[in-house]
Amino acid sequence: MSVLIKGGRVITAADDYVGDIYVEDERISLIGESLDLAADKTIDATGKYVLPGCIDPHTHLDMPFGGTVTIDDVESGHTSAAFGGTTCHVDFVIQPKGATFGEALETWQEKANGKALIDIGYHMAITDLNEGGSLEELASLPDQGVTSYKLFMAYKGALMVDDETLFKSMQVAAESGALVMVHAENGDAIDVLVKKALAEGKTEPRYHALTRPPETEGEATNRAIQLAHVAGAPLYVVHVSCREAVEPIARAREAGWRIWGETCTQYFFIDYTHLEKPDFEGAKYVYTPPPRPKENQEVLWAAVRSDVLSAISTDHCAFSWGEQKALGRDDFSKIPNGGPGIENRLQMIHQFGVREGRITLNRMVELLATNPAKLFGLYPRKGSLAVGSDADVVIFDPEKQVTLSAATHHSRSDYNLFEGVQVTGSPEIVLRRGEVLVEGDELVAKPGSGQFVRRARFGEELKPAAAPARA
Ligand code: URP
Ligand code: ZN
Ligand code: ZN
Repeated sequence: MSVLIKGGRVITAADDYVGDIYVEDERISLIGESLDLAADKTIDATGKYVLPGCIDPHTHLDMPFGGTVTIDDVESGHTSAAFGGTTCHVDFVIQPKGATFGEALETWQEKANGKALIDIGYHMAITDLNEGGSLEELASLPDQGVTSYKLFMAYKGALMVDDETLFKSMQVAAESGALVMVHAENGDAIDVLVKKALAEGKTEPRYHALTRPPETEGEATNRAIQLAHVAGAPLYVVHVSCREAVEPIARAREAGWRIWGETCTQYFFIDYTHLEKPDFEGAKYVYTPPPRPKENQEVLWAAVRSDVLSAISTDHCAFSWGEQKALGRDDFSKIPNGGPGIENRLQMIHQFGVREGRITLNRMVELLATNPAKLFGLYPRKGSLAVGSDADVVIFDPEKQVTLSAATHHSRSDYNLFEGVQVTGSPEIVLRRGEVLVEGDELVAKPGSGQFVRRARFGEELKPAAAPARA
């Protein structure tokens, strides 16, 4: 299968030019001007942006959590991602307590069997180093292409680990070439605040935020940074939501420490007041860390501009409002934590980041594709448009007007965090490894066509295969 993409504005993290891209089989084999080549499919991209497929480094599909299971499985999550221009994601395998990492990985791979549309990598969420996985097994995960681990410093009694587990995992990562990821909140302090609030009869959704103040995120972020530095491990702080967490990351990066951070689309747009919506509507915005006071949004924009934060993910962890969020109607601590978002990241960041002048197009590509690829061992096979790279390509119409809504999104969630928001600019055609995934309103590829991607160790490049020889 060959595809010729003609006359589009090719935008990578570094480049911006009008050109043609030729795809053979799964990879880009030629980039040039006015290429005159026969192809099975020719796409006229005049007036369109040609972007690398976006990579979402933080998602939760088909994940048991909060007394239920996230509503998007691999197929619905991937469909939603594909329509949003995301061609690869890295999902969290959650190690069930008592299970080995190998068992957990197998369970997650089974969830994807016959359902994958986009390519998938896995992070390992470590919950237990005593009865389940061992340090030796952890050290072997990079050999299987699983080159990042996440540790939860919150969710006491569920996923939270103690500092000993965190630190030992960091030591293993330092030696085995893995990247440590942390969910940074002080779970012990939050647990005390949650119990106190409930004892006082404070049960509404807004107490989700009021019992997880920004300082608990700032404290844990700084603790993780200091411990990673002692262990000599690289660290990636997930879903940074507030100034209190941005500041220690900025300090560490300024000092040249190997610390990176991401934020997620929703933290730029949803603030604390959304949790105060009446009639339990606030439950739609119960995710963790919680929506913060609005002034944090400009802090986050500044941080992604200055590379204090290096990636924007979605933390897609979708539940239905009607049924699943209702588990916590009388107790905010029982509302499953998480929200949908895998589909709208590119549209939202293009509209409010690029169109409104907060970041450049190149920086948008860097935050949504290139940096996730570099940090998570996928570059240069993915995350850019280069000869030899996977032909993961988004033909993006910068003038297409779309109103975001649960009525039209492809997630199974019955609400959209950005309901009614109007954007100008949306993916039109999405290719994954040269195959058309989405064209207009149609899902073209078949479930089962997405593949597991083995990721390179932290700091190593994943070599693209040699470009296919042309006849
Ligand atoms: O609320 C969230 N973020 N749910 C997903 C789990 C996590 O903490 O990433
Ligand atoms: Zn988290
Ligand atoms: Zn998450």
